Amino acid sequence: MPTGIIESLDHDARGITRLEGKTIFVEGALPGEQVEYTCFQTRPSYEIARVVRLLKASPDRVQPKCPHFGVCGGCSMQHLDPSAQVAAKQRVLESNFWHLARLIPEQLYAPIYGAFSGYRFRARLSVHVTANKGDVLIGFHQRQSAQVADMQQCLNLPSPVSALLTPLHRLIAKLSIARKIPQIEVAVGEYVTVLLLRLLAPLSQADEVLLRAFADSHGIAFYLQSKGPTSARRFYPLDGPQLSYRLPDFAIEHFFSPTEFTQVNPELNRVLVRRALTLLDPQRGERIADMFCGLGNFTLPIARSGAVVIGVEGSRELVRRASKNAAANGVAAQVSYSVANLFEATPESLAALGHVDKMLIDPPREGAVNLVRAIGANGPWRIVYVSCNPATLARDAAILVTQKGYRLLGAGVINMFPNTSHVESIALFEKRSTLITLQGLPRTR
Ligand SMILES: C[S@@+](CC[C@H](N)C(=O)[O-])C[C@H]1O[C@@H](n2cnc3c(N)ncnc32)[C@H](O)[C@@H]1O
Repeated sequence: MPTGIIESLDHDARGITRLEGKTIFVEGALPGEQVEYTCFQTRPSYEIARVVRLLKASPDRVQPKCPHFGVCGGCSMQHLDPSAQVAAKQRVLESNFWHLARLIPEQLYAPIYGAFSGYRFRARLSVHVTANKGDVLIGFHQRQSAQVADMQQCLNLPSPVSALLTPLHRLIAKLSIARKIPQIEVAVGEYVTVLLLRLLAPLSQADEVLLRAFADSHGIAFYLQSKGPTSARRFYPLDGPQLSYRLPDFAIEHFFSPTEFTQVNPELNRVLVRRALTLLDPQRGERIADMFCGLGNFTLPIARSGAVVIGVEGSRELVRRASKNAAANGVAAQVSYSVANLFEATPESLAALGHVDKMLIDPPREGAVNLVRAIGANGPWRIVYVSCNPATLARDAAILVTQKGYRLLGAGVINMFPNTSHVESIALFEKRSTLITLQGLPRTR
């Protein structure tokens, strides 16, 4: 059986080693380790393998706390010490900047991290009832598989939600349409926890009784969704608090529905918003664009500074929600929203927003390539880019720096998804021709 020394981690937290010029991705192996491995997938230029025997363990290796680790696809880094996880993500960010864009940020920001468990306030759990025995499985998908990893507990979910998993198994098993419930969405708000059931068939009256009793005894609210996201309706209890999350530093409360996008980790989201606002440094009288604004996570804190904010977002429902949130927080006069497909941004569509002094960009994994390409000579002098994919961030950064005249002033990671290999990061760009005077006003060199 082959052995190898692990050089680094790939973007899925697999150890990388090489054998006769071929790259081998070894699941479960950590940098610096010497392992014996077996390959289970062979391609012309690489192989995927798993560890058979640890010949020399990394000092950063720890015992995973969750019994499902290794099977469940929800986590890939529980075997790595928490601070080493953060350091590994920082290296991934730097290596993407260098290898994809030949960029080195002028400053590396100290990583932002928080609790390593109980952080995941949003989750999509799959449900499967086995064909032969009729066992109910609830959980994330298994690693690299469409099969459901049956979870009896989850370290990443808040402990009261993790404690619901066993009673949920029992509840689903009793429902007449157990085989017609493919998913359960979990959304934990400030004052209520919601379980949204995706339904492929109507509930019977007896099912409804069971759901109401479950909601009463566990203090949660059920939503039901029979078609697309807009069909989601609150089922029980009909009264009681709505889902919301607060940003106390800015005296903001965002309301949302369980089908709408919010950051999964509210503790780190607070820190992320604070850091983004510190870097953006919005001032009264400025016009600031918040691109991919969602329900206004950054828009409303920016508006609190007295700046005028233009939020742009692809989802009409989220823009509707964002407008309601602006009104509920008393900043509607400073905020305007528009719906646009930013993957198709052009210089003309960007110019139609009018001049903006600064811009915040927070795209999905695909990044914002056409948006940054569309930025013209009169573009914002400062850009804060929040990213959930270091590869697309690096690609877009290369355009900003080599074609649009920006400097990459700084970048750093936010460990928004501990125990997983997801790398969330933030980067600051400023126009090269911009100097900041002592009064803080930009002027051209
Ligand atoms: C990472 S989320 C950020 C949302 C928001 N800034 C926040 O912090 O909650 C990305 C957002 O981009 C939106 N989006 C996805 N594709 C888009 C597109 N092609 N054009 C505009 N917005 C899009 C999504 O609906 C989502 O709200």
